[in-house]
Amino acid sequence: MIENLIKQFIKTFHVSDERTRVFFAPGRVNLIGEHTDYNGGHVFPCALNIGTYAVVQKRIDKMVRMYSVNFENIDIVECSLDNLRYEAAHDWANYPKGVIDTFKKHGYVIDQGFDVLFYGNIPNGAGLSSSASIELATSVLLKGLFGLKADMMSMVKMSQRAENEFIGVNCGIMDQFAIGMGKEHHAVLLNCQTLDYTYSPLKLQDASLVIANTNKRRGLADSKYNERRGECERALKQLQTELHIKSLGDITPEQFEQHKYLVQDETDRKRAKHAVYENARTKEAVIKLRAGDVAGFGELMKQSHKSLRDDYEVTGEELDALVEAAWMEEGVFGSRMTGAGFGGCTISIVKNSEIDSFIEHAGRRYTEKTGLTADFYVVQVGDGAKELVREIV
Ligand code: GLA
Repeated sequence: MIENLIKQFIKTFHVSDERTRVFFAPGRVNLIGEHTDYNGGHVFPCALNIGTYAVVQKRIDKMVRMYSVNFENIDIVECSLDNLRYEAAHDWANYPKGVIDTFKKHGYVIDQGFDVLFYGNIPNGAGLSSSASIELATSVLLKGLFGLKADMMSMVKMSQRAENEFIGVNCGIMDQFAIGMGKEHHAVLLNCQTLDYTYSPLKLQDASLVIANTNKRRGLADSKYNERRGECERALKQLQTELHIKSLGDITPEQFEQHKYLVQDETDRKRAKHAVYENARTKEAVIKLRAGDVAGFGELMKQSHKSLRDDYEVTGEELDALVEAAWMEEGVFGSRMTGAGFGGCTISIVKNSEIDSFIEHAGRRYTEKTGLTADFYVVQVGDGAKELVREIV
């Protein structure tokens, strides 16, 4: 595939391939810890083996030319390094532009342009972070091309910043972190307040991770994401009138139960309840997984989904139908929505011997209920963003 992408690069930009370099950033899936990152809690995501490839070559002028194989209807997007503004017509290319701009604002010297061809095999808009993936692909290519002294953690933060400030989506740090810092065969427990993290081997015994796409598209920017953030912030302020806490991630469920009367609005209280309990669940789930208790981990995934459905209210008919269909299947240890919600994907842990029947039965039940067809992917856990070494043939 890489050699094909290089051929396409040469054809698109009419250049020779001598100095071409190839970078890759994965997509991510979150196993548990949803809508906790911006609440100062824990998340437990992993990087996937699908993602975004970037074939790139430096230019001698200051132009950046970008093309995406996934958006054939959009021609090469061109801009000067001296004029990196958000432009609606540039569509997907605003993500790499935002990252370049953010690096420059942080003082990194990017003084030469480049041609870059992107190709992604993450289903677009499915909640597996295709946007954070292109951001990290851009980050590692900038580091590689310009020999920048930037460690992965600062690239993660700059990518998140590009999304927050250049794109205008107020996401937390989970996606960029999982994509930058992911490790093959491991999930990573991140404390989103301190940014301390630990890797956990993803020992699922005779089971695998299966992602199912509802094929109901999910618009993060225009979804209720910001509304949920606002509700949690309001609840936190009211809790802070008696508790010395920085975020909802600082309190245990017991403390929450004792002080929840401080939160006046019933909806805000439900949102805060989810954030607090989900954080506790995430830490507990990781302990279970480390002890080899896959069933216990799966049970907490189920509770997570119910809380996202009933208290946080970010699931919707399609995600609920797909997850509930999964819960009915033999050999399913756990299943829940993953990512921001309102459409997108579910993640399930399924016994290897039952995967085929799981896909058939859960898929059929989902279609009966919603009229939509789900796509299923048995995924492997891969490494974080990096340069790919080209094989010499
Ligand atoms: C999106 C955001 C993340 C996180 C999740 C919900 O993926 O980009 O920062 O908030 O939603 O857990």
